[in-house]
Amino acid sequence: MTGKNCQGHEQESGSRMSADYKEHLSKQLNKQAGGELLGAYIAAGWVERAPSLKAKFEIAELCAQEIGHALMIYELLTELGNDVDRLACETLPVDYFSPYPATWIEFVVFHYLIDSAARHLVSDLVECSWAPAARVMQKIYAEEDGHVEHAELWIEELCAQSDDRTAIQKALDDWLPRIGKLFGKPQCAINQARLELGIQRYENESLRTAWYEEVRATLTSLGLMAPATLTCKTSL
Ligand SMILES: [Fe+2]
Ligand SMILES: [Fe+2]
Repeated sequence: MTGKNCQGHEQESGSRMSADYKEHLSKQLNKQAGGELLGAYIAAGWVERAPSLKAKFEIAELCAQEIGHALMIYELLTELGNDVDRLACETLPVDYFSPYPATWIEFVVFHYLIDSAARHLVSDLVECSWAPAARVMQKIYAEEDGHVEHAELWIEELCAQSDDRTAIQKALDDWLPRIGKLFGKPQCAINQARLELGIQRYENESLRTAWYEEVRATLTSLGLMAPATLTCKTSL
């Protein structure tokens, strides 16, 4: 599944990349940066609405880290010769998760699912064949690990505080397929090309399955229901 290729592996400079490699790499990185910014944008709306001062601070810190991730990736994109101001303004998928979480329960469920997905998506790039990107992804991965740990605590607290799990279950039923589609289409030609170039290391479907098995185990241990197989309409 690793698909390493001499075109980029261990490469430090962008100057000797083929045009095809550079284009795939730039699009992959831009998708990742957009996801980081969008995550921060949605979470930022909850700094004021969170139910405690502690939660407000924690969300503010989460936003700062997600923006930091986006900035590190935009630096890579600049090094590759991209106009990042244009990319950030014109290609940010602001409607991708619309409608956004509307209640605190929905936000906690969203935070858990999106950060656990983000950790898997970043793990796909930690051995990227362009060495500067691999190093940045390793830094981001370490922080995403912390985000997942935090989100698990919050969802456990939510379950412990409520006798009626109906609203939590409803939020999960809504958000599981919406987050699941982030992993992209199965048997995707773009994914195959990026595996061959060593940019990605996993097929979309295997990454989605790994994420879903992980979250399903956590959710069922909390007494919540998650179907054995997740059906998502994959549009990315
Ligand atoms: Fe992030
Ligand atoms: Fe995160």
